[in-house]
Amino acid sequence: MTSFKNTLLLASAFAAAVSGAPVEQASAVSTKRGLAYNQVTALNPFAKKPCFSWSYNWGSAAGGDIQGTEYVPMNWGEKMFGEWDNLAEAALASGSKHLLAFNEPDLAEQANMSPEAAAAAYQQYMNPYGDRARLGSPAITNGAAPYGLDWMKKFFDACAGNCKIDFLAIHWYDGAEHAFWFKKHITECIEFAKAHGIDKIWVTEFQGMGDDVSQVKFMNEVLPWLDSNDSVERYAYFMVDTLLRGKSVSSVGQRYSS
Ligand SMILES: *[C@@H]1O[C@H](CO)[C@@H](O)[C@H](O)[C@H]1NC(C)=O
Repeated sequence: MTSFKNTLLLASAFAAAVSGAPVEQASAVSTKRGLAYNQVTALNPFAKKPCFSWSYNWGSAAGGDIQGTEYVPMNWGEKMFGEWDNLAEAALASGSKHLLAFNEPDLAEQANMSPEAAAAAYQQYMNPYGDRARLGSPAITNGAAPYGLDWMKKFFDACAGNCKIDFLAIHWYDGAEHAFWFKKHITECIEFAKAHGIDKIWVTEFQGMGDDVSQVKFMNEVLPWLDSNDSVERYAYFMVDTLLRGKSVSSVGQRYSS
């Protein structure tokens, strides 16, 4: 898939050069888009789509063929700590260049960690990889205080500058009609990250909730916006298993693939 993608980018760069268009326009194919999955076989219908550069499954092992994407392991939370080092090493050895940290520690039913406990665990389990991979912050919800950015602010305070973080990881869920609020929230997160010396964010879960038509409309509005902003390094819509209808891809999945 990597060579397929490169060929495609080169071909469009060549076409742009011939037509005299700015070469930047050649990257009409987003390289930020990821595949969030539970069942690894759910990736199959999305294979060989040049827009997908990475994948993750909230775990630390891919569990099968990830279709030429970069697998990004996640240190989900406390239940993962015992096996994290072995699995992170294995993922790095097979080409992972990024590592994700705790999943929604601001929620009791997810990683459920206080900002202070997360800051200590981050330094213990994530910092050691800082020279060998790009590291993501814990991934927070878009809940109002004490969730979301409020939790993250306390986490950064507890880190006191000692957590090695290359990008801020965030989630967003709301109605598909709220693309405006999505952009507003992402903007706020970019500004929060910058204020903490971090110049990239990853939106590792998001969904404009609603029927397929509303979700496609949401994507039409937010995907080009995400693609055009350099501060947004990567993103993953929630989630490929739900973008299938039997063996084929739903209209939402098709929009996400194009
Ligand atoms: C990305 O978004 C941030 C926050 O809205 C903004 O400050 C920045 O100028 C944007 N960058 C680009 C390249 O559009």
